[in-house]
Amino acid sequence: EAAKAIKITEDASLPAAKKLKIKECVNNRDTRVKVSGWVHRMRPQKNMIFITLRDGSGLLQCILTDKDNLTKTYDALTLTLETTITLYGEIKKVPEGSHAPDGHELHVDYYEVIGRAPGGDEAISNIVAPDADPTTKYNNRHLTIRGDIASATLKVRAAVVKAFRKSYDDLGLLEVTPPCMVQTQVEGGSTLFEFDYYGEKAYLTQSSQLYLETCLPSLGDVFCIQESFRAEKSLTRRHLSEYTHIEAELAFITFDDLLCHLEEMICRTIDTVWTDPQIRKFIQDLNEEANKEEKRRFEKGEVTEIKHYEFNPPQRPFKRMTYVDAIQWLNEHNIPNEDGEPHKFGDDIAEAAERRMTDIINLPIFLTKFPVEIKAFYMKKDLQDPRVTESVDCLMPGVGEIVGGSMRMDNLEELLAAYKREGIPADPYYWFTDQRKYGTTPHGGYGIGLERLLAWMCGRWTVKDCSLYPRWMGRCTP
Ligand code: 4AD
Repeated sequence: EAAKAIKITEDASLPAAKKLKIKECVNNRDTRVKVSGWVHRMRPQKNMIFITLRDGSGLLQCILTDKDNLTKTYDALTLTLETTITLYGEIKKVPEGSHAPDGHELHVDYYEVIGRAPGGDEAISNIVAPDADPTTKYNNRHLTIRGDIASATLKVRAAVVKAFRKSYDDLGLLEVTPPCMVQTQVEGGSTLFEFDYYGEKAYLTQSSQLYLETCLPSLGDVFCIQESFRAEKSLTRRHLSEYTHIEAELAFITFDDLLCHLEEMICRTIDTVWTDPQIRKFIQDLNEEANKEEKRRFEKGEVTEIKHYEFNPPQRPFKRMTYVDAIQWLNEHNIPNEDGEPHKFGDDIAEAAERRMTDIINLPIFLTKFPVEIKAFYMKKDLQDPRVTESVDCLMPGVGEIVGGSMRMDNLEELLAAYKREGIPADPYYWFTDQRKYGTTPHGGYGIGLERLLAWMCGRWTVKDCSLYPRWMGRCTP
């Protein structure tokens, strides 16, 4: 009650405050500024309150002293995490030996509370506590994203998307926006999301590949960054129902050109990301955090050996391994197929075996030339060995497959036969088939799963934590 009587006022004799975002403070030291944000952390001390303010652009350490009653008001005494506040004061370098974000702190001379956040049971720290169970965390994803780990991952995500666009621009590919509502499948009927489109049957796109192929004669080499949808019925660490798909298609290339382009795209993009010191720091911090998480998983018995997380940009060239060699490698290392038997030609290499192999080799791998039977209908056969396709999966340590690509069938009759073989009705594909009729060309492309790429770079246990609002079987909220 006494505190309620204490009011603070802005000293009119001080210079007018410059309104800034936190990241702009570095270039505005020793000036009076005004910064607004959310109370991220708080440390009340005798006659002082330390606040770490967050505004999305960065973190700022702020100090309230008891001068002018700043620490004595009702607002100060009842301040809670996530309260929004505008703070006025001067940005000062921290003394030698002290640490604070950007090496400085705000010496507050006045503040205004904008919106209070609950304390007690409803306090954010009780709702999304670090040891909260995953369901609680995902139910409160809107609050979880305010945390250091989620926001760092999302910032890396934005940097990676931006860097991909730059790499594509550097290499001369044009961005297009294919439709998400379609009437054709690309990667098999079992993962199609079907919906009613004004009385017609339609699907959410599984991949924009077929549409990209139609752009080649019009726009040349193209790419898109678009959501893809898969009705995956399995709950794994690397499957989502909606994910961001980075896809590209190139004309008049060979299979080897495709592999070289893919390697160039991945390395060039990661180099761009890695040369940004702030983003590099996020990636390093996330991997350090991953090591702590791994230790906790080991202590709880969730993993049987401790994997060390550390991200470094990959070395070129990537290791290239054919499917046939992989089968042999798996058998030599006693890694069985899904039936517990040695792998044989024609087996799908299951997620567990693929991850195990990638983790042991511990390098990016281009796994190539998969058998025709286990790959999509549109893939071109290898002329030397028609049992296999000119296909590639790019595997990364910790995640396994992050890219799938191939050369495409460029012969009309072969394509028509492939529809038949797969039981795909040719009618809805007339526009795709026309590509083989009106001037066909050797061509190929690939799709990169953005969340999987991020899980690899950021050492995340699951792709769910690399998506803003992840969707998987049973989760479409928030
Ligand atoms: O291997 P996929 O199914 O290939 C295609 O869709 C091709 N049509 C792409 C193309 O050539 N344009 O998927 C490509 C990548 C996978 O390597 C994986 O990284 C990601 O997309 N992906 C998923 N990511 C998260 N959740 C899922 N359910 C995914 N399914 C595929």
